[in-house]
Amino acid sequence: LDFDIRLNERPLPAADREAVLADPGWGLHFTDHMVTIRYTEGEGWHDARLEPYAPIPMDPASQVFHYAQELFEGLKAYRRPDGSIVTFRPYMNAARMNRSAQRMAMPEIPEQLFVDALEVLVRQDRDWVPTRDGYSLYLRPFMFATTRALGVNQPAKEYLFVVIASPSGNYYSKGVRPVTVWLSQDYTRAAPGGTGEAKFGGNYAASFAGQAEAVEQGCDQVVWLDAIEHRWVEEVGSMNLMFVYGSGADARLLTPALTGTLLPGITRDSMLKLAPDLGIPVEEGKISIEEWQAGCESGELTEVFGCGTAAIISPVGAVKGADRAWTIGDGGTGEVSMRLREELIGIQYGHRPDPYGWVHEI
Ligand code: PLP
Ligand code: COI
Repeated sequence: LDFDIRLNERPLPAADREAVLADPGWGLHFTDHMVTIRYTEGEGWHDARLEPYAPIPMDPASQVFHYAQELFEGLKAYRRPDGSIVTFRPYMNAARMNRSAQRMAMPEIPEQLFVDALEVLVRQDRDWVPTRDGYSLYLRPFMFATTRALGVNQPAKEYLFVVIASPSGNYYSKGVRPVTVWLSQDYTRAAPGGTGEAKFGGNYAASFAGQAEAVEQGCDQVVWLDAIEHRWVEEVGSMNLMFVYGSGADARLLTPALTGTLLPGITRDSMLKLAPDLGIPVEEGKISIEEWQAGCESGELTEVFGCGTAAIISPVGAVKGADRAWTIGDGGTGEVSMRLREELIGIQYGHRPDPYGWVHEI
């Protein structure tokens, strides 16, 4: 598809943009443009546009408002020291959006069209990619049902795919620091056969109450346990979890296997490939809260971190539940966690070689 280009005649003045980029926060500011592509059953994807960032007029009977057919993705554009701009593994995001689409009975988007949409937007708004190390332009592709119909017997016939972009600083305003996590017994993120594997907006709507409970309990994030036994650890907040056993040359990594109730993270996948290269064996398996606590108390389990695009790596310092609480290591940021973080960031920002060809220049 060719993109119809409609430039914003009133872009944010450069001085104002620079002020935003100096301290963007996270997910608060948006660039001058967005991409929209329409889908109609029978016709496929059409009307691809780059247009000024603006509200989207919607019919109140649009199916997304009632039955929540909505998917999203998240990835970043990085500015490298040589001035080039890259994204990281964008075809993986495209493939994941299409797997999510299958689950939600939504149309798949050709992977190349997904990546072209990112490129058109980032090229136009390239001045919005922050220069500061560690900062980036967060890209948010999403798709939702626009058909005007309240019937619930069938999925919508029309959809809108949109990409917006948001300059981002550090996901956590205080930088990398260990978080405390809450073991929720009351709330479940995902059940077998449900939507946990899809990057579906409703999963996040359903998580806010659990997150609020964690905050009420004095914690930063909620740990999601399996829906059936409430014992097996799945994810933390909106990140995958990694457990480090041992230290130094003997360190090894365990992460919960993708059982269908976890979001298959691209950061997770990248860690599983990078860790062995650093001499850290990896295993995908199961870990219960009892094993987590016992491992920390015996000293065998040395570090735990969440990983995801937004925060990259978020060390977990302490765990609290209704009837138990413990710390991980000395409650600080672990050495293996930081080594993996540096390696990944190094590839993204071009300070390290990219042995797997993950970086995609725009
Ligand atoms: N788990 C959940 C529930 C998420 O929302 C995300 C974020 O996208 C992740 C894990 C991490 O995925 P990724 O590494 O692809 O950002
Ligand atoms: C992530 O990138 O790790 C996320 O979880 C994105 C979040 C804002 C939904």
